[in-house]
Amino acid sequence: MTPNTEANVLAMPSEERVSALDDERYAALLARLSHQSVVKHYDAFADVAWDSPEMRIDPDDPRWILSEDDPLGRTAWYRAQPAGVRSRIGLHMVCSFMQVGLEFESVLQRGLLNFAQSLPHGAPEFRYVYHEVIEEGQHSLMFAEFVRRAGLPVRGLPWWQKIGAAQVMRFGRTFPELFFVFVLGGEDPIDHVQRRALASGREVPPVIRRIMQIHITEEARHLCFARHFLRRRVPQLSALRRFILSHRAPVILGIMSQMMMRPSATIVRTYGIPKEVIREAYTHNVAHRARTQEAVGKVRSLLAELGLYEGGVARLWKLLGLAAPPAVA
Ligand SMILES: [Fe+2]
Ligand SMILES: [Fe+2]
Repeated sequence: MTPNTEANVLAMPSEERVSALDDERYAALLARLSHQSVVKHYDAFADVAWDSPEMRIDPDDPRWILSEDDPLGRTAWYRAQPAGVRSRIGLHMVCSFMQVGLEFESVLQRGLLNFAQSLPHGAPEFRYVYHEVIEEGQHSLMFAEFVRRAGLPVRGLPWWQKIGAAQVMRFGRTFPELFFVFVLGGEDPIDHVQRRALASGREVPPVIRRIMQIHITEEARHLCFARHFLRRRVPQLSALRRFILSHRAPVILGIMSQMMMRPSATIVRTYGIPKEVIREAYTHNVAHRARTQEAVGKVRSLLAELGLYEGGVARLWKLLGLAAPPAVA
């Protein structure tokens, strides 16, 4: 067996690019992912040294300040703010993304339990899905602890998203393929953003570095399972279900990626960020659009591979600003 190094665990599932697996290889993959969940898993309190002095969350820590590479961080409005306001906005955005992540994981866990209950007795997915539910529970504890310690106000989902969330949970049982597109819609963009942050070489506070390392490691398994599940199941869907899946996917991805990439309404209000600054940073910013297109890139490629990105659907992706960015000459 290959040694269980961090690099190995990180690389293993996300690099695995194969078409639909036969029953035997699929069961072996699930057994391997489940085994990894046993030997490489984290506890929100045992594995994050919350009380170490270097892990203290200080709103005046300049390492929270958004870089010039960030859509908001590069605006003249942001750069004109005092250092304490800039660092607070940066920290507040992290808190609000963690709160969104926590709420997403709550929907995810309940949908996964619905999915597990719908499986036939002895299904290979059952054990793995329970590992995933447990891991998401630890992530949520970790995010909640961060938000609690930061002490900045965060709001829950608006009512219209709560209605959508209740529907998504049911899909775990009634339409698991759509449910797992939702899973990828939540997990893939944030995984992309976190990997990018860690790879940027920029100095980030140790507490957020630790949380990202834990999250990336465990999410690699979740993403791997969702992709393989879709590869196996989508080809068996009826034409109607394929139609629904292909048209809802870009809408789901459009909403979820922006929830993880733009400041919440609470932040905009708290710091009085002018509307035109939001427009400049996000709505009319080519660089932000390109980053969003990049963040949903892996899901887009998977859907294309499954024949769910053709004709009118491709136009819908384009309309929503999520199609592949034009190749740079
Ligand atoms: Fe998670
Ligand atoms: Fe996950």
